[in-house]
Amino acid sequence: MTEITLDRKTSGEELAVKVENLSKTFGSRTAFKDLTFNVAYGEIFGFLGPNGAGKTTTVRTLSTLLKPTSGKATVAGIELNESNSISIRSVISVMSETPGLYNRLTVYENLKCFCELYMLKDPKTKIEKSLFAVNLWDRKDDLCGSLSKGLKQRVGLARALLNEPKVLFLDEPSSGLDPIAALEVHELIKELQKQGVTIFLTTHRLEEAEKLCDRVAILNTTLKLIGKTEDMQAQMFSKTVQLKTLHPLKDEGLIFKEIQGILEWTKEQDLYTLQVSDPNEVIPNLVKKLVSANEDLISIGEVHHSLQDIYLETVKESGE
Ligand SMILES: Nc1ncnc2c1ncn2[C@@H]1O[C@H](COP(=O)(O)OP(=O)(O)OP(=O)(O)O)[C@@H](O)[C@H]1O
Ligand SMILES: [Mg+2]
Repeated sequence: MTEITLDRKTSGEELAVKVENLSKTFGSRTAFKDLTFNVAYGEIFGFLGPNGAGKTTTVRTLSTLLKPTSGKATVAGIELNESNSISIRSVISVMSETPGLYNRLTVYENLKCFCELYMLKDPKTKIEKSLFAVNLWDRKDDLCGSLSKGLKQRVGLARALLNEPKVLFLDEPSSGLDPIAALEVHELIKELQKQGVTIFLTTHRLEEAEKLCDRVAILNTTLKLIGKTEDMQAQMFSKTVQLKTLHPLKDEGLIFKEIQGILEWTKEQDLYTLQVSDPNEVIPNLVKKLVSANEDLISIGEVHHSLQDIYLETVKESGE
């Protein structure tokens, strides 16, 4: 596993999640193996990986629904073991991909029912707070069965907020949602972070992870990579500049050779891709050079590698 950065947040303070050499097997099948990582309070932590990578099993283990095969963990400062299950469950929440609601009950009745199940004090205030947090107060009397998938997801989130969790595990919260409903879920997640909730987010939507998460981990049974996206980008990819010209450059070799900081270049039709040491130095010099050589420049700029590039590179490598 490559640790890209030792985040300041995770170095000294008390941790929301601390995992050491944690493994889980089902008979001869290994769901995840030897996981070691931390999540700091207040973080949105993205947990990524292909189907079957072990993400849901990790969430189920950390939320006390499954017993680990080996290793140690603390969740919200409480050691993960059978005798602490109830204490842990009282300070965390899990929202799985399917919200698990009673379709024949209204939104309000569903939440009331879960308050009773969780034996929460002052259910009225808690339900109100949760419904306002997910903007669903005006739909409180609707039957859950009549709600759209996105609205059901929001009720699921309201349910997860009832116990005012310190750590909220969201397992693919925007799966199957349309782009607008997914954006609404993103807003809610950001809002929860502002209110101090630590979010452990598993998702297949890499743009969602890139936008929301302070750090991400890439899992494929074992942990492959962990850190901030920008640090991963800087370490995994050299800096790239692309330029497009109206016609192929007359003497490209000479032009690129004369500019300091161009390490390598390739050409595909009229698109040139350059590996450079510092785009801020290379781009202005190159533009001046092209103008003085009377070349017709159409566009030039640094190419930013996305979390998708990082993910594909990491998962491809780990599958080989
Ligand atoms: N209860 C179980 N019994 C046996 N094997 C299981 C059980 N739960 C999970 N597994 C196996 O553990 C592995 C990891 O599954 P898991 O559901 O954690 O993956 P995931 O990363 O959440 O995948 P997805 O992206 O598809 O949700 C899979 O091979 C799965 O079949
Ligand atoms: Mg899963």
